[in-house]
Amino acid sequence: MKILVGGGCGYIGSHTVVELLTSGYEVVIVDNFYNSSRDVLDRISKICDKKISFYEGDICDKEFLRDVFSKEKIDSVIHFAGYKAVGESVAKPIMYYRNNIDSTLTLLEVMEEYGVYNLVFSSSATVYGVPEKLPLREDFPVSATNPYGYTKLMIEQILKDVSYSNDKWRIVLLRYFNPIGAHESGLIGENPDGIPNNIMPYIMRVASGEYDKVHVFGNDYDTKDGTGVRDYIHVVDLAKGHIKAIEYLEKNGKISIFNLGTGMGYSVLDLIETVKKVNNVSVPYVIESRRPGDIATCYADCSLANKELGWTAEKGIEDMCRDAYNFVLKNK
Ligand code: NAD
Ligand code: UFG
Repeated sequence: MKILVGGGCGYIGSHTVVELLTSGYEVVIVDNFYNSSRDVLDRISKICDKKISFYEGDICDKEFLRDVFSKEKIDSVIHFAGYKAVGESVAKPIMYYRNNIDSTLTLLEVMEEYGVYNLVFSSSATVYGVPEKLPLREDFPVSATNPYGYTKLMIEQILKDVSYSNDKWRIVLLRYFNPIGAHESGLIGENPDGIPNNIMPYIMRVASGEYDKVHVFGNDYDTKDGTGVRDYIHVVDLAKGHIKAIEYLEKNGKISIFNLGTGMGYSVLDLIETVKKVNNVSVPYVIESRRPGDIATCYADCSLANKELGWTAEKGIEDMCRDAYNFVLKNK
């Protein structure tokens, strides 16, 4: 079985490639290094002791993609390639719509040309908008408040329409909650360029002494300690969910949607305290005003993924905090 992984050098993609290789799949990565670097390939090879087939290029470039599909006999595709920063998407909507939508459409066109109909797509809990009820279930209403979220909603709709158009399509939409942590080797993980938008990479910069303190966005939410609550999931558990999704595609047609989270909600202060405790580090913080667009609480009902995919997150918040810091220490 050969899997094409679009965006396979990125944070979630690289961890998924490791799981695919260790599960016996052949992997072909396509990435343009917009938000990753070439050394990830060596690091994946080191973890798995395997060589990876890699093509550098843009998934929006149809000729490039055709070339990949004509050289490799692809069975299924996992599509991670896209831009993901909410704030940046508000400032640069055209760039976000162009890349996220175009890469998906180009991929779909080329897949159809080459008779490849199995696709796993990276969606996001962002499509639930402001939750009315918790935990979030896949059949709850969806909405968006920023261009990034709209790209996920639009792509979900495109993929539904595509799956209805031809019975050959087998599509799984995975709605990720908040991935954090890193591979236990410390060789791959998350290290964004510039000032991190997300909480865990920011906490890591404080824990490692690079920044003075964490800015906690609001302590007046209706949560246990007033800070935002999220469903953090270890990136390795998330990666394993993709293996289950690929297996599921072999038996199930049309389109299916699954939440990938732990079903547990932790506050920002819980996360800071856990990082301190498991790594024996200091993490000073200051309370700031709320970040516009943030919601109070978000966590998943993962029973559908448990039942249909036979998948459940195994790692806890302490593993996530330990592995995230281990990656930072090994890559200082
Ligand atoms: P990432 O930025 O680390 O990885 C994306 C990879 O895709 C990068 O290596 C980038 O260089 C590549 N890429 C982007 N556009 C490309 C293009 N046109 N052609 C070829 N390569 C391209 O992001 P990630 O955190 O690994 O996220 C992967 C997917 O999961 C994204 O679609 C993201 O929206 C989604 N997602 C992420 C999160 C999260 O918190 N990380 C949460 C929900 C959903
Ligand atoms: N937070 C801080 N300080 C920071 C950064 C974040 O206090 O410096 C807080 C936020 O207010 C929120 C929590 O930490 O309460 C988590 O924030 P993140 O930015 O890490 O994550 P979000 O839940 O806002 O969003 C992330 C991705 C989205 C994705 C969503 C669900 O950025 O793209 O998870 O998967 F849609």
